Amino acid sequence: MADPATLRTVFAQFPAGVVAVCALVDSEPRGLAVSTFTPVSLEPALVSICVQNTSSTWPVLRTANRIGLSLLGSGQEDAARALSARRADRFAQMSLTRRGSAIFVDGGAAWIEASLDGEVLAGDHTVAVLRIHGLGKRVDVNPLVFHDSRFRALESENGSGRRQHVCAAAHDRPPQHAENDDAGPRQDETGARVSDSRRLRVL
Ligand SMILES: Cc1cc2nc3c(=O)[nH]c(=O)nc-3n(C[C@H](O)[C@H](O)[C@H](O)COP(=O)(O)O)c2cc1C
Repeated sequence: MADPATLRTVFAQFPAGVVAVCALVDSEPRGLAVSTFTPVSLEPALVSICVQNTSSTWPVLRTANRIGLSLLGSGQEDAARALSARRADRFAQMSLTRRGSAIFVDGGAAWIEASLDGEVLAGDHTVAVLRIHGLGKRVDVNPLVFHDSRFRALESENGSGRRQHVCAAAHDRPPQHAENDDAGPRQDETGARVSDSRRLRVL
């Protein structure tokens, strides 16, 4: 059986987005950063996050009627660090938007307004399933990526003159997770389907 340190380094090889999970509870903004956000279901619309059972924030946050999920954008690593810091005021330097009890970090790649739908205890973490009530995205903001314990950014190779990755068939198109998703591949001058070829850049 692998030891926790080895598990951590192997799990860290999986690149993930970083999501600010925030809400107003008893007039106080509460929140934490997670990299365990996962889309779960389209009908009903559900996502999940995994929270350490030692978290002091989640037991408070989970009581909020509505919880804001902000999919942080590249350049927002300071917000991610602040939302995992031990200090009391994690929101000191942040520009925020509130909708009911849900709090959103401005400037993210996407936002989801959710409520807690269920929880499953899974070892030293709890899988929290969240029901989506509203959502939106900004096409001009790339997501912040956490990989190998470092923050990274997606870097576009579009316009660099380099040949872009060409998908062979229409079924290579990524599944559409949202009705307003406009990030699918485009056609190049030869009529071939072209993916938005991007690579990870270490910050
Ligand atoms: C990039 C990043 C990703 C994180 N992902 C998670 C996560 O998925 N689950 C989790 O419980 N904590 C995660 N954390 C740690 C929390 O943000 C936070 O530090 C932890 O919950 C302890 O604070 P708390 O006691 O206020 O909950 C992450 C931190 C960072 C910086």
